[in-house]
Amino acid sequence: MATDARDAPNPDAHTPRTGYVYAAAVFAALGGLLFGYDTGVISGALLFIEQAFGLSVFHQELVVSVVLIGAAVAALGGGRLADGMGRRTTLLLTAGIFIAGALVCALAPSATVLVVGRVIVGVGIGLASTTVPIYISELAPAAARGWQVSLFQLAITVGILGAYLVDYAFAASRGWRWMLGLAVVPGVLLGIGMLLMPETPRWLARRGRRDEARHVLERIRGGADVADEFREIEATLAVAEEHGRWSDLLSPAVRPALIIGVGLAFFQQVTGINTVIYYAPTIIRSAGIPSASGAILATAGIGVVNVIMTIVAMRLLDRVGRRPLLLVGTAGMAVMLGMLGWLFHGQFQGGNLALFAVAILMAYVAFFAIGLGPVFWLLISEIYPLTIRGAAEGTAAGVNWAFNFLVSVTFLSLIEVVGPSASFWVYGLLSVLAWIFCYAFVPETKGRTLEEIEASWHAR
Ligand code: BGC
Repeated sequence: MATDARDAPNPDAHTPRTGYVYAAAVFAALGGLLFGYDTGVISGALLFIEQAFGLSVFHQELVVSVVLIGAAVAALGGGRLADGMGRRTTLLLTAGIFIAGALVCALAPSATVLVVGRVIVGVGIGLASTTVPIYISELAPAAARGWQVSLFQLAITVGILGAYLVDYAFAASRGWRWMLGLAVVPGVLLGIGMLLMPETPRWLARRGRRDEARHVLERIRGGADVADEFREIEATLAVAEEHGRWSDLLSPAVRPALIIGVGLAFFQQVTGINTVIYYAPTIIRSAGIPSASGAILATAGIGVVNVIMTIVAMRLLDRVGRRPLLLVGTAGMAVMLGMLGWLFHGQFQGGNLALFAVAILMAYVAFFAIGLGPVFWLLISEIYPLTIRGAAEGTAAGVNWAFNFLVSVTFLSLIEVVGPSASFWVYGLLSVLAWIFCYAFVPETKGRTLEEIEASWHAR
């Protein structure tokens, strides 16, 4: 299964790329920025929100986690929206939802309204995570699809880092309303960007809007001859066996790809990335850095590593391919988690322990950022047949959000019950399983057109 799409010829490696296609990718990636910002900002805002409304622990957990539940539900349904209304219209709607959610949160007169605002934000994130990767993937030339779709992951990491910085900037003035409200800015930019950008030629062709599809393709390929690419899209639609129904997800040509997407969604979360993204200061403090500001600084350092290594991944994805990065990434994560468990097992004491823990956490995030981070979102935008792409991608994204929620709400209890070292070893073991899964099942998609990838499933 793992070999069929590897080392394939690179049919449109020389397709000219226009500024237009870059602009579309960058604007759409703002959805990722909001994803990262809105999931990251709450850690710093929570303290002040708790004081403002006198929240119980349960209410605090609710404010944090309803975003993830909203995102899971919206991702599952959002794929059908993107298939039905189009990628661009869904992204316009997403921008509106982000703006509304940010305003409701920032102006919330009570904790209940705040929770409603967080649900709205979650819906925006879910829709973005389903639609942005597909939108970019369907516009990008095959040879550049890896890095262009990974702009989404880069934007997530920049959003997380931005959230840490904004939290830090507004902490002195206890400005939690500003922290939550500032998300309006990228929301407005996403909306304006999508008004100016086109629908994808692949979605237009699928809806029978042939002339428009061809026109958009010519525009984004800078006037180059698009006859071959267009013929390939039409030929794929002519033999498509799926009709966009939920039951098509289990058709023989889609099932293996569905298993890969859902499997990667599961492994991207259960290997523990968000225990670090959401709880890094807690982990670092328990390793022995006593001051809160030292822990926050170290957390910001982890955020910077996440951004830098995502850029490294973007440079490599279209050269070395998706599989090698996934395998190196998951292997590295397993080793780092093993070491972290060993460290907390009591092998080290004092200041050294804390510094060593920070270094290991950084290395762990680095391995995530070159592998499972970007490659998950990339692969689920490219391995599904066009007629069912939204629904299938949305299923994988929804599963990802559901496990994000599960890991986040169980982490602190897990540490309490089995201790930190056993907890990290559990995530480490799951990273080993992730490696085996990737090795056995994940195909290489580097340099292939979406239509060639689709044909390889049908050929089975
Ligand atoms: C994951 C998020 C995670 C982020 C960290 C994304 O790919 O889906 O859950 O917080 O990466 O960079």
